[in-house]
Amino acid sequence: MAARYLFLFAAGASWALASSVTCSASAPVSCHNTTSYDTCCLNYPGGHMLQTQFWDTNPATGPSNSWTIHGLWPDHCDGTFDSSCDASRAYTNITQILQAAAPSTLSYMQTYWKTNSGTDESFWEHEWAKHGTCISTLRPSCYSGYQPTQEAVDFFVRTVSLFQGLPSYSWLAGAGIVPSSTATYTLSAIEAALTAQFGFSVTVNCNSNNELDELWYHYNVRGSVQSGTFIPTTPVGSGSTCPSSGIKYLPKPGGTTSTPTVSTSSPAASPTGGGGGGTAPSGSGYLNVVTSGTQKGCIISAGTWYTSGTCATFTATPSGSGFTLSSSKGKCAISSNALTCSSSVSTATVFSYDGTHVTYSGSSTFYATAVPSGTTQATVYTTSHSVSLQLTWQAL
Ligand SMILES: *[C@@H]1O[C@H](CO)[C@@H](O)[C@H](O)[C@H]1NC(C)=O
Ligand SMILES: *[C@@H]1O[C@H](CO)[C@@H](O)[C@H](O)[C@H]1NC(C)=O
Repeated sequence: MAARYLFLFAAGASWALASSVTCSASAPVSCHNTTSYDTCCLNYPGGHMLQTQFWDTNPATGPSNSWTIHGLWPDHCDGTFDSSCDASRAYTNITQILQAAAPSTLSYMQTYWKTNSGTDESFWEHEWAKHGTCISTLRPSCYSGYQPTQEAVDFFVRTVSLFQGLPSYSWLAGAGIVPSSTATYTLSAIEAALTAQFGFSVTVNCNSNNELDELWYHYNVRGSVQSGTFIPTTPVGSGSTCPSSGIKYLPKPGGTTSTPTVSTSSPAASPTGGGGGGTAPSGSGYLNVVTSGTQKGCIISAGTWYTSGTCATFTATPSGSGFTLSSSKGKCAISSNALTCSSSVSTATVFSYDGTHVTYSGSSTFYATAVPSGTTQATVYTTSHSVSLQLTWQAL
């Protein structure tokens, strides 16, 4: 077999080992090998890897606009799995291990790999001992010049980097699926939003109250967990635990994520305190549409309202006491009582913000002739039409 280990020779007499195992680029993909292969370079029997994520709201964990890490699990190719494979490597000092070897990974984990009970350290120990020790390519014998605990470092570094490539919150928000204390979503809409981004089905799980609480992204791996390539794949094992409709995606309390609400009065001033209003628009974000108390779609680049497909990213720029907006199409303005963003707009309109909604001329209410569906786009008016709507800013 081709060289499995990468030796790095430093200048002079001393030499150092790379911390990861290097496998041949022609190593088989896990769950797809047709002959036996070295299990330091083929994840076996745990060849179906899941990067699992939590949405914890009670108590809330992590940023209000991000899912958090649950773990990286090596399922067998049929969805069954081993657990707690090596008690001798059930380390009880994950924080110290990472502090010494991968401090930036540790610091990221302190924000994004959170438990909703007990300490994060004990949660990391649990994930490592239960799942990490079952990953064949992370066995100490797979390393040349193995240094104690280095395989646990590889496990946490890899899990964090996978998670960073799976921005579930933005992927859902791009399809208009945002946390709400009033809206509900269908399983098919959630699945479609994630599949469109990941390329394969994602397992969507709910708790017993029909609240969305976990996502499982599935992979096979070519080579090792340390340095191989993770290849998205179709789920195996248990399916979704969510109902087909009526799924709640609750806001994380105390967060800054906008919560769709019906505003019956037009607030004269910005709310004070952390009342869920968030800060005035600045930088990149989505313009979500709220109608009848429910977030429904968003504004796309031309300034029109769309309830399916991907939201446009707008840039908000402070201007005087308000802000201007632009999209990939150009500056946004109220022109002939309608919102339009176009290269032909020469002067961007200055909007204001009431702490929750975008306002224009002192009002947070905008209008459309109908709620758009399918591929229809609706013009957003500032003058009265049959449907009232509000615009919320969702910073990205
Ligand atoms: C895949 O590789 C493993 C580990 O070498 C081996 O046990 C298994 O039989 C292989 N699968 C096939 C279909 O050859
Ligand atoms: C963590 O504990 C292991 C033994 O379980 C030990 O080998 C290692 O040196 C410790 N690491 C740190 C950074 O304390």
